[in-house]
Amino acid sequence: MSAELISGKEMAASIREEIKERVAGLKESGLTPGLAVVLLGEDPASQVYVRSKNKAATEAGIHSRQITLSEDTPEDELLGVVAGLNADPEIHGILVQLPLPDQIDEAKVLSAIDPAKDVDGFHPVNVGRLASGDPDALAPCTPSGVVEMLQRSGNDPEGKHVVVVGRSSVVGRPMAALLLRKAPGGNATVTVAHSRTPDLGAVTRGADILIVAIGQPDLIRGDMVKPGAVVIDVGVNRVDDDTRERGYRLTGDVAFDEVKEIASAISPVPGGVGPMTIAMLLSNTVEAAVRSAPAE
Ligand code: GUN
Repeated sequence: MSAELISGKEMAASIREEIKERVAGLKESGLTPGLAVVLLGEDPASQVYVRSKNKAATEAGIHSRQITLSEDTPEDELLGVVAGLNADPEIHGILVQLPLPDQIDEAKVLSAIDPAKDVDGFHPVNVGRLASGDPDALAPCTPSGVVEMLQRSGNDPEGKHVVVVGRSSVVGRPMAALLLRKAPGGNATVTVAHSRTPDLGAVTRGADILIVAIGQPDLIRGDMVKPGAVVIDVGVNRVDDDTRERGYRLTGDVAFDEVKEIASAISPVPGGVGPMTIAMLLSNTVEAAVRSAPAE
């Protein structure tokens, strides 16, 4: 069997078109959604992500502002920038690119963002809302993108046993919370496995839907997947590859060639979850802008 490919790239393109149309309508009624992305330092991977986020926002008609600060920016200065963006009526979404340099307390910065503008869904208020099952919580973009991929590919999680491998606050935990909600895209039976789970394969083989976000290249092999399962690979790992000009290639947490022979559907890396994350960021920004507008 060779699995159907769940192309996040194609889905993200159509979501971005939908968002573009919605933004055009909002602009006609006098509301231009605005997104600010703050980057500290010159980490090449972060620069690439931030550029893609800004480009995607601009293409959707969203007002996009990139604020680049030096690697050694003091915490107080960053908090001042966040306070300015919180008070700025042109900005409805704020994203501070992670990871932050060592002199900065990440939790303090994330808590300083106005929860209504927290399009990353990392503020403790939004984390709490999502964990308590609030269907309107602003949720982190990557797990929201995974839910969207499952729904749009005809693999609704409702009633399914979903195994999430990974317990990070960016993916694994909010992923489990989204899948548990009594809301569209939720109502699943959820198991969370992680780096200390003994006999991981025994757990993953129980999954109707397997979502892997642990950051280990090719961790999930063919014999760890139930025949016919749906597999979503959130991992993005750089592995050395001398045959590539840049000296590396990107690979997921799932041994794609093996698992595609077992699964009924699988997302690739690259071209899977990554593009969906950006689409969800745009969606959260538009949502935050709409909620900010006074009711008619
Ligand atoms: N760095 C890598 N992924 C993310 C993300 O989703 N949000 C932020 N703020 N930083 C990141």
